[in-house]
Amino acid sequence: MPWQPLQLFLQSLEGKLEGKVALITGGASGIGECTAKLFSKHGAKVVIADIQDEQGHSVVNSIGLSNSTFIHCNVTNEDHVKNAEDKAVSTYGKLNIMFNNAGTTDGPKPRIIDNEKWI
Ligand SMILES: NC(=O)c1ccc[n+]([C@@H]2O[C@H](COP(=O)([O-])OP(=O)(O)OC[C@H]3O[C@@H](n4cnc5c(N)ncnc54)[C@H](O)[C@@H]3O)[C@@H](O)[C@H]2O)c1
Repeated sequence: MPWQPLQLFLQSLEGKLEGKVALITGGASGIGECTAKLFSKHGAKVVIADIQDEQGHSVVNSIGLSNSTFIHCNVTNEDHVKNAEDKAVSTYGKLNIMFNNAGTTDGPKPRIIDNEKWI
């Protein structure tokens, strides 16, 4: 029964994202890309905000241009983040969800104070 928790989680999403607009930073790859695809599958419009333009456009093409859009956004730049929010509202009329996912780390370390690279 290892799939049961995942199935219950997916069932709990049913209908909840229909018509919502989500801004996903770091949406061009990894967890952000998977989230963008999952949110879209459940009816959300997604704005993918990332520094990887080519990869971001590729994710939009795979989701579909009617349900997703890409904006170049470096989350360390406040103006970029504001532009991404504005893009969501100008494209889809509202912004319901922000997934603040973009980031990098310098690999797992047992002691948190040994980490040097953060966004
Ligand atoms: N994968 C893991 O096991 C894990 C564990 C703990 C935390 N996290 C965190 O979860 C988040 C996603 O992880 P992932 O494994 O999908 O990483 P990933 O490297 O696959 O994806 C990160 C995405 O963020 C984008 N990005 C990086 N810097 C950015 C910036 N300044 N502005 C905008 N976009 C930027 C990258 O281009 C990339 O598309 C990260 O914040 C990571 O630190 C991941």
